Amino acid sequence: MAACRQSTLDLLENLTTSEFRQQSHADFSPVGWHLGHIAFTESLWLLEYLKEDPCPYPDYQRLFAADGLPKAERENLPNLSEILAFMQAIRDRTLAYLETAPLYDQLRLWRWVLQHESQHAETATYVLAMHRWSQRAAQPRKMVPNSRRQPGPTSASKQNMVLIPGGAFEMGSSTLDALDNERPSHRVSISDYWLDCTPVTVADYAAFMAAGGYQNSQWWHPEGWAWIQKQHITQPLYWQDPLTVWPEMPVCGVSWYEADAYSCFVGKRLPTEAEWERAAHWQPQQDCMQTYPWGDTPLTAKRGNFGGNQDGVTPVGAYPDGRSATGCDDLLGNVWEWTNTWFAGYPDFVPYPYQGYSQTYFDGTHRVLRGGSWATRPWVLRSTFRNWYQPWIQQVFSGFRCALSA
Ligand code: AVJ
Ligand code: FE
Repeated sequence: MAACRQSTLDLLENLTTSEFRQQSHADFSPVGWHLGHIAFTESLWLLEYLKEDPCPYPDYQRLFAADGLPKAERENLPNLSEILAFMQAIRDRTLAYLETAPLYDQLRLWRWVLQHESQHAETATYVLAMHRWSQRAAQPRKMVPNSRRQPGPTSASKQNMVLIPGGAFEMGSSTLDALDNERPSHRVSISDYWLDCTPVTVADYAAFMAAGGYQNSQWWHPEGWAWIQKQHITQPLYWQDPLTVWPEMPVCGVSWYEADAYSCFVGKRLPTEAEWERAAHWQPQQDCMQTYPWGDTPLTAKRGNFGGNQDGVTPVGAYPDGRSATGCDDLLGNVWEWTNTWFAGYPDFVPYPYQGYSQTYFDGTHRVLRGGSWATRPWVLRSTFRNWYQPWIQQVFSGFRCALSA
């Protein structure tokens, strides 16, 4: 918890008042709200719920509870020093309670609170990236070299793809860390499929753009086509960032609509969530599931790009030690990967710790993303973790890889 808090506080380096207080996008709360909400949530679940000690800052309930204010009304914040004092006051009480708490019975909730902070710290990273991106004059970018792939809807290339045998496997997780939406672990069966060994790169995506991808409705889901017209979308969010747009970087800042359109353009499709998970979680030689793509040995910095270690995306395939037993790179970290699957509960889903954590989003408007980004904290980086956003969201360091049925 201390390490996670340090990574949260690291976000404050060079933070300006407007970055602290202002929304950078209507779908995201200000950085300062995320900080207050992290502390409020820790207080709610560890102090109020477990220890029966109400929040020492009752005024903060309305401001920082998940169901308090609409996002647009979260800018009227106490100043940074007050929020930091709030965070510290709660943390002091939490650590004092930890001395005597019956942790054996409560560990699932403590682990949940840790992962809750991890996720909000990542979201605050998105908000900051948007602020800082909008500050910089959009720079015209030189065209990147041509694709390694030959695009064409009738001749999907299997170059850079791996054939993964289908079969039955245990999807999800029933471990203590697993969030409600990962549980329970259950058996699913899928057919043989091809999966890209790496996320789709900038060079790959540039070929789609150069071929008029954004001007041709035939590749697009009708809602996606309507969305790019209405919002005047002509490229991924961070496309003109000279630090991200190198040919071998994964494309980052794409919506599900764009990921789907590109997949269609190359004659492929997005993987289902089960296909993604089998690639990341399954050990073909022993036909068993493993914690991480490479096995059960712990996550370290040489396994992938996560935790803000690189402060941005890295070229695909740069972490051979993170390669999965099925032969795929960059499954954990670098960019989140859109899947074709709507976010929904697994069979016998039970909400935890409250209905609004996952179940509220089982509404047929959110697509699942897998794998984590360069900014994902290690506490939420694993093969079974599920993220979800609406199909037009570009802001979450999202990319994708393509699949094909065998
Ligand atoms: C899983 C990242 C979409 O931030 O809305 C945090 C996680 N839920 N507090 C979000 C979450 C409640 C969630 N995401
Ligand atoms: Fe939250």
